[in-house]
Amino acid sequence: MEYIFSGKWKEASPISFDASIMSVAIRVEHLSKKYILSHRASEPYVALRDVISNAFRKSSKMNAEGVGTFAKKEEFYAFKDVSFEINQGDRIGIIGRNGAGKSTLLKILSRITEVTEGRVSIKGRVASLLEVGTGFHPELTGRENIFLNGSILGMSKSEIQRKFDEIVAFAEVERFLDTPVKRYSSGMYVRLAFAVAAHLEPEILVVDEVLAVGDAEFQKKCLGKMKDVASSGRTILFVSHNMAAIQNLCSKAIYLNKGRLEIMGEAEHVISTYLRSTADVNSIDLASRKDRSGNAAFRFTSFSLKDSDDQQLSSLQSGKPGKLCLEIEKNTTIPDLRNIHIAVGIDDEMGQRITNLNNETTGTLFPEMSGSKATIEISIPRLPLRHGLYSFTLYGTVNNDVADWIGNAGNFHVEHGDFFGTGKLLPDGQGSFYIDHTFKLRNH
Ligand SMILES: Nc1ncnc2c1ncn2[C@@H]1O[C@H](COP(=O)(O)OP(=O)(O)O)[C@@H](O)[C@H]1O
Ligand SMILES: [Mg+2]
Repeated sequence: MEYIFSGKWKEASPISFDASIMSVAIRVEHLSKKYILSHRASEPYVALRDVISNAFRKSSKMNAEGVGTFAKKEEFYAFKDVSFEINQGDRIGIIGRNGAGKSTLLKILSRITEVTEGRVSIKGRVASLLEVGTGFHPELTGRENIFLNGSILGMSKSEIQRKFDEIVAFAEVERFLDTPVKRYSSGMYVRLAFAVAAHLEPEILVVDEVLAVGDAEFQKKCLGKMKDVASSGRTILFVSHNMAAIQNLCSKAIYLNKGRLEIMGEAEHVISTYLRSTADVNSIDLASRKDRSGNAAFRFTSFSLKDSDDQQLSSLQSGKPGKLCLEIEKNTTIPDLRNIHIAVGIDDEMGQRITNLNNETTGTLFPEMSGSKATIEISIPRLPLRHGLYSFTLYGTVNNDVADWIGNAGNFHVEHGDFFGTGKLLPDGQGSFYIDHTFKLRNH
């Protein structure tokens, strides 16, 4: 286990100056992180920040307790054998389901948690905004925490002082500067923590799920600030479940899956791989449904979502192409079925019918159904629905007689997507779908 944290590469001798190495900001080699689970206490480590803040406060009561006092131990790898390289100035989104190891990775890069196996090399100062509770010391005031974080980043008092007013203004916490941060609301805490991390001019900015906390206005402000930081050539690692934010901010992404690096590459591609890979859950079986009506000339047997390459999806994304696929099965005593007509009613979370996809409306005539099974594919070139949960009703007729009708046949999710390519989402409470449109000001 080895860490190299310095302004220069340890291995890089002045003789073997290599421009390609110079551009690497973070190198992770065969990194594994093992947690030791126990009934008594958490992991036996003393966080760097605790050490520094203990020194800062000269208080002994913050020493880590319980080290080496475990009764039962159980080993567990939060991630295993992860390797990647990040170049200076890269904006990297990190995605993956809960428990994939995203936060653990950021904690390792921020030196909050130790490496178990492998090696991490970092060039430059890292400022991080991690899960609430890791960045600041709760007993210290807002003002003290700003200085503490600055000194952790190796800044001088006067350097911090220069940034101080900007940080306070961005966080909107003037009135609470001399209050211990443990009394802050979670919103205030996150605002200050973000402001500190983003303004202290780190070479590398690490942000974990900040967009899940603060209000919509502040989220926008944070994204804007991260863009500024990125445009000044600094490296950003950003964990979020908001795919639109990742798409908008990040050029590349890493998909962590159960502690393994599934794929790293161009953000758009990694996001679509991630959405596809969660697909196993989402083919809805309709064959065994009892609550249906119709003469059963044919029946709906399953529903699934696919992307434009026919890969199964677990959810659709605003602004992206997608397909709703219905498997149907014919009553085998009937010969070829003609004049099939299918309708899919879509309801929002409030049960309000928002649209109906219907081959009569689109003027599509299906060929006759000759085999016992067929797939009905409904392609949507650019999904206008905003993120949320939708339910659907299926309705099928043959020669105007109802063959199969299933009310509330199932649900599907629509994820955030960058419909307009601006990174801006429809504000909450401002409707349920996107409309293609343009704005113009005409002077008179
Ligand atoms: N301090 C810890 N002690 C034991 N297990 C932990 C600890 N922190 C995280 N884990 C476990 O490690 C795995 C990865 O967690 P985490 O990095 O928080 O994932 P993510 O941020 O992707 O949701 C999870 O199974 C989690 O329960
Ligand atoms: Mg996490």
